[in-house]
Amino acid sequence: MAVFHLLWSLGAKALLIPVFLLFIAFLIYGLYLKYIHMKYDHIPGPPRDSFFLGHSPTLKRIMKNDELVHDKLIEWSETYGSVYRLNVLHFVVVCVTCPEATKEILMSPKYLKDKFVYKKLYNLFGQRFFGNGLVTVQNHELWYKQRRIMDPAFSTLYLRGLIGTFNERAEKLMDKLADAADNNTEANMLHLVNCVTLDVIAKVAFGMDLDLLTNSSPFPKAIETCLNAMVYYIRDLTFEFNPMNRRFIKEAREACRLLRTTGARVIRERKTAMQNGEDVPKDILTQIIKTAATEETMTEEDEEFMLDNFVTFFIAGQETTANQLAFCIMELGRHPEILEKVRKEVDDVIGMKQDLSYEDIGKLTYLSQVLKETLRMYSTVPGISREIQEDMVIDGVHIPGGVSCMLNSYVSGRLERFFKDPLKFDPDRFHPDAPRPYYCYYPFALGPRACLGQNFAQMEAKVVMAKLLQRFDFSLVPGQTFEIRDTGMLRPKSRVVCSIKHRK
Ligand code: HEM
Repeated sequence: MAVFHLLWSLGAKALLIPVFLLFIAFLIYGLYLKYIHMKYDHIPGPPRDSFFLGHSPTLKRIMKNDELVHDKLIEWSETYGSVYRLNVLHFVVVCVTCPEATKEILMSPKYLKDKFVYKKLYNLFGQRFFGNGLVTVQNHELWYKQRRIMDPAFSTLYLRGLIGTFNERAEKLMDKLADAADNNTEANMLHLVNCVTLDVIAKVAFGMDLDLLTNSSPFPKAIETCLNAMVYYIRDLTFEFNPMNRRFIKEAREACRLLRTTGARVIRERKTAMQNGEDVPKDILTQIIKTAATEETMTEEDEEFMLDNFVTFFIAGQETTANQLAFCIMELGRHPEILEKVRKEVDDVIGMKQDLSYEDIGKLTYLSQVLKETLRMYSTVPGISREIQEDMVIDGVHIPGGVSCMLNSYVSGRLERFFKDPLKFDPDRFHPDAPRPYYCYYPFALGPRACLGQNFAQMEAKVVMAKLLQRFDFSLVPGQTFEIRDTGMLRPKSRVVCSIKHRK
């Protein structure tokens, strides 16, 4: 008995030390949080849900209810003004819609991409994902080196040469739509445009022939899984530790691995072709290989770095444009008068012509306006983040350095103070004679880290839309929601199901 007591008291003592240390750590963290609150609480913002978790319970609740976080951000922006604060644990994010501050932050290379968001995208639940690829790389020198090498693959000269591929892949979609019209079957437009944009990027960037409108492929599902996982990984810090999410996390890691192993195979094949002196295209893949070291000095990290960019272009070059196209078709389905006007322009400019030239595309100005207005209401990449390292003043509010700053083009695009009657779809806002929005419209971001693929994406979108309008009448199947699903990027929840008829 005495031995038992001795052991018990020794065990209790041994346990007391870690419990005490844990308590002290908890106390120190609490004090640190208090200090952070005192430092930033003069910035207006909604009341915190909890001292420790900040606003994350509200954000988590919105995501759980499959609602749109960005709509809440609009509400807060209307209530708290052009700069307000959010807290998540000890992290502070200032949400900015002030045009002057937007200009300062986006146009200057001084404001680096934010660690909190972009470093998280390096991995997805422990599996390397975007790594140091062009979208996520933070280090300025490393970014600049990559961007300089990539630029030629997006020059006007190079893009002109891609018009043939855009035409050819868009024709496959037209064949599919012709089948739907002949057989009187409904067309899931989001799925179809996703196939086209993935086909296009795979072909022009990596020389891969996926032909997704005919063949089945694991890639669309893998991309969707990665994007869904990305949202939880960034916004819910506890997600990873919940055993209920284990299966989802395993699937996300596998999806991510599939993209990277595919990249490794494609890069290996291209390198062999280059070594054999074969004539290879000067496409994105060739440029990616150039961003890495030469064969003699190639390290494992260099190999991984090439895969980072493979995944980056595979995803950045596809989902964004597909969602823009789907939202555009949805809005045209809801506005017959705008549909009529844009169709008339297409008829006047291209008539019955099948192969559209770069010049034809340039003449479709009203279609450009429609596509711009689509991105105002549905900014498919809604939020971007930068670091504010030094103190600054935004709209009279002092912002102490050391915070993340979120700029949200979905929010700015839907604020009454920037766009009158913001929920009205009105392409005339982007008429060439209309005043240009002042730093409140930036679906492709602005400044040095603006989207590299903007012209690529809009050329591709115009070719697809022009052919669709030229050949088919489409109408939305009734009973669909016009709500938005948030997968980090925005997509139409209803998937835009249409009935299709050949035009007379
Ligand atoms: C409608 C279509 C698209 C939209 C709305 C869009 C939007 C954006 C936005 C907002 C950024 C800045 C991200 C940030 O600062 O965090 C970005 C960056 C980027 N986008 Fe796009 N994008 C589109 C299509 C494309 C396409 C088709 C490609 C490639 C073929 C592409 C490649 C890139 C790259 C490489 C970057 C990083 C640029 C850099 O930091 O130097 N994007 N895009």
